[in-house]
Amino acid sequence: MNARSLKFQLLVWYAGLLTACFLVLGAAAYFALRSYLSSDLKHTQLRRARQIAQLVTEQKQDAARISAEIENRYAPGQNDRFVRIAHEAGQIVYTSSNPASGSFAPSNLPTAAWPKREEGTRRIELPNGHRLLVTSHILEAAGGKKYLIETGALMDDLEQDLHQWLTFLLGGLPVVVVMAVGGGYLLVNRALRPVDEIVASAERIGSQNLEERLPLPHTGDELERLSVALNRMLERLDQAFQYSRRFVADASHELRTPLTVLRGELEGFAEDERLTAELRERVGSALEEVERLVNIVEGLFAISRLDAGEAQAEWVKFDLGKLATATADQMSLLAEDKEIKVSCAAPPGVMVEGDRARMKQVIVNLLDNAIKYTPAGGAVGMTVGARENKAVLEVADNGIGIPRDALPRVFDRFYRVNKARSRAEGGAGLGLSIVKSICTAHHGNVEGSSAPGRGSVFRVELPLVTNHASKNNGKHFA
Ligand SMILES: Nc1ncnc2c1ncn2[C@@H]1O[C@H](COP(=O)(O)OP(=O)(O)OP(=O)(O)O)[C@@H](O)[C@H]1O
Ligand SMILES: [Mg+2]
Repeated sequence: MNARSLKFQLLVWYAGLLTACFLVLGAAAYFALRSYLSSDLKHTQLRRARQIAQLVTEQKQDAARISAEIENRYAPGQNDRFVRIAHEAGQIVYTSSNPASGSFAPSNLPTAAWPKREEGTRRIELPNGHRLLVTSHILEAAGGKKYLIETGALMDDLEQDLHQWLTFLLGGLPVVVVMAVGGGYLLVNRALRPVDEIVASAERIGSQNLEERLPLPHTGDELERLSVALNRMLERLDQAFQYSRRFVADASHELRTPLTVLRGELEGFAEDERLTAELRERVGSALEEVERLVNIVEGLFAISRLDAGEAQAEWVKFDLGKLATATADQMSLLAEDKEIKVSCAAPPGVMVEGDRARMKQVIVNLLDNAIKYTPAGGAVGMTVGARENKAVLEVADNGIGIPRDALPRVFDRFYRVNKARSRAEGGAGLGLSIVKSICTAHHGNVEGSSAPGRGSVFRVELPLVTNHASKNNGKHFA
């Protein structure tokens, strides 16, 4: 996945934020749990210290009775607890026995300095790694005597609980990351699916189907607004396109009649015996220019009608191989004048559907170019064949070729690589545009390749019609 793509960025942000939330919440829960557990332990121990203080008062400060009562009620040794009662003068009144677990020795625990406050807490780190939470309570007994009552418990349970929580957190982290990435991937894919659909539709729309529109997701969100805006833009483009097509169609149509009249008039003059030979020659050269004009206008008219899908035509099934052979025969006369050999390998039976006359025009234009742009003595070869579900027609020559940078433009209207040369040979630069328009109207396509100085190949591909299923998938010409 491209690291700069929107999908990737969204996914990273989503997974990152979710993981960060999990970590922050987990850490907060860890600290809250720690504070809760230690305050709970502290309060239990303080409560115990207060109970023992009461016991000291009840037993009238008699050391033996106090010890017996504490052992009896709390059995600190057996419960891993610590209890110590010290007199203000430093004398120890009671120390609990060694705990059953043996994790600490109460008699070895350091005595605290007499605390300033009535109640307090401290932690003792034991050499064996255990920790003890010790609370202290000062009792002012009858007779003004003061006792320091210390109660303590190991922090092992608390630490074990915290450790379990931490293990759970760290163990859960990879699961959360995997879920965040997986869930994020699904969510992002789902959210961006309409974008893919818009892109796919936008890719399909070209000058031939500008009337098509992008799908509207109907979500009321930014994507719907984007589709609506793009559709409006397509609408405007479509109108502009139609306007320019209509203009070319109307202009060429309007020019046809006066040009035909002009040509007729000039032909009359050229044959008029009353004019001097010099005048008739000048009329003749004017006639040549008018012929050129007529060709251009006819070419433009044909293209504009083809592009608008309005050409008058019959849509029939015909044999492309036979058509190619017949056309090559006719054209070879033209080639003979230039001493160019035209060969044609076109087996019959390659069936296509469409307008035969227009398809013939494709072949004529391609052969005309191949002959025109190949020096005397060269060779032109045409092949027709069926490949998969396509009929393929290729016209190859060993002529002057087309420069690499000009190749993509040869199908543009009026484009000629060498304007002077092409004009001298009567070319207007419309032949390949007409070829392309006809191929497009037949749901096919044409492309050219060339090695400058060594020759060119033009290849036409059309939908093949099999004998079993005649596929009439076409836009019929009106
Ligand atoms: N087989 C070819 N070999 C070399 N150049 C070619 C070949 N076919 C086309 N070209 C180049 O592409 C240009 C455009 O071809 P196109 O057939 O559209 O126009 P044209 O031949 O100049 O004029 P028109 O076909 O209108 O008489 C040509 O002027 C020529 O420079
Ligand atoms: Mg041409």
